[in-house]
Amino acid sequence: MIDVLLGLQWGDEGKGKIVDFLAAHYDIIARFQGGPNAGHTLYLKGEKVVLHTIPSGVFQTHCLNLIGNGVVIDPVTLRLEIEKILPLCPDMLSRLYVSQKAHLILPTHRALDAASEAAKGADKIGSTLKGIGPAYMDKTGRNGLRVGDILSPNFREKYNKLTQKHLQLLKQYDGPTIAWEQWEEPFFAAIEHMRALQLVNAEYWLENHLKQGKKILAEGAQGSMLDVDFGTYPFVTSSNTIAAGVCSGLGVAPSWVGEVYGITKAYCTRVGGGPFPTELEDATGDALRAAGHEFGATTGRPRRCGWIDLVALRYAIMLSGVTKLIITKTDVLDSFTPLMAATAYNVNGTVTKELPYDLCETGIVPVYETFDGWDKPISTCTTYDELPKAFKDYCTFIEEYLEVRISHVSNGTGRDQLIVIS
Ligand code: GDP
Ligand code: IMO
Ligand code: MG
Repeated sequence: MIDVLLGLQWGDEGKGKIVDFLAAHYDIIARFQGGPNAGHTLYLKGEKVVLHTIPSGVFQTHCLNLIGNGVVIDPVTLRLEIEKILPLCPDMLSRLYVSQKAHLILPTHRALDAASEAAKGADKIGSTLKGIGPAYMDKTGRNGLRVGDILSPNFREKYNKLTQKHLQLLKQYDGPTIAWEQWEEPFFAAIEHMRALQLVNAEYWLENHLKQGKKILAEGAQGSMLDVDFGTYPFVTSSNTIAAGVCSGLGVAPSWVGEVYGITKAYCTRVGGGPFPTELEDATGDALRAAGHEFGATTGRPRRCGWIDLVALRYAIMLSGVTKLIITKTDVLDSFTPLMAATAYNVNGTVTKELPYDLCETGIVPVYETFDGWDKPISTCTTYDELPKAFKDYCTFIEEYLEVRISHVSNGTGRDQLIVIS
């Protein structure tokens, strides 16, 4: 079976920490979409590690890790990440596999990302500038280069051809363009490095493991509200972040899919531009940012903070068929009272529990339910019973509204700060 774990908000829900924990029960962890725009944080013996392209199962030494075809890979970022992790995990290369069908991010993709964002001015998406959008555009535009191409004797020729195309495109932009040439040398050095990795026909590789009864966990990146089809378009990323992305991003049939874990923070954050109905642009929002250390794991940018949005969560749960809910960063709310949760949107006088077509153009006033906070720190609780009544009431309301049971409560950054309910 292949279980799925994905973010239900705008990313950074704590996927890295939870995958690292759950990986103990799986044989393979597979990334199915996104690329180095992701920043998945986990702690290994107290040391903080942020993973961008490598699956978060890498520190569980029995786990194989696959970078699937749906991922876009920057060879330079991947190489740096491997070099950083190797001393912590010397056998990791023997457990790392890369789909030959994953697409490559070229230096000029990064330049195009920067030029496109600069040209948008105030309307910019707030991209991580990792070249994600342009790389996926080349994939769907049928121009892209794939990992398998690096084994071809005319890879350089293919690279030059695509780069020339990008240079023509870059001319369309008025502003100064990035000196992408400086990235060519490290790019080709990283390609050499990549040739030595285990590059596989991943769909067959996965099928073989599935038929042997191995347990696989598909690790999502970003979050459901950043999905290119169903997120807050155009302020989204360029891949399908919902469960549907697992089949196309790994080459597995839907019949293999089992449990779908959806992760939400106990509140909500967003980094980059775009609509965020429950955002708190006040002292409470600042206090949430400070208490939750809400700064991007990839870019260091301050994250926008707000109350949990049950309308958006219900939508995300519907899209992916979430069977188990994981709630993270609960300890961050320790000192907040009252707490609020959006249960409906007031859209021009009409109260609805449905997300409007376009959140960007629609004036939304969230309708809130208010809850008492809890008055004791919960980060040391190890069982559900120990948790304060006010916290349990908050969780019960969320479960009843979303019609999904909470399976895990995360109450701190550590691997062991996780209360397993079911
Ligand atoms: P991801 O992209 O979903 O993997 O999440 P990030 O790593 O970008 O951001 C989540 C942040 O919250 C990281 O700094 C984690 O160490 C931290 N974190 C995860 N779970 C908890 C939790 O339960 N409590 C607290 N206080 N921090 C957490
Ligand atoms: P993880 O996996 C939070 C956001 C960017 C921007 C938009 C598009 O760590 O949860 P892109 O670089 O993809 O073109 O940016 O998506 N974004 C993320 N926000 N967490 C992420 O990943 C993100 N990956 C992209 O901030 O608004
Ligand atoms: Mg992150």
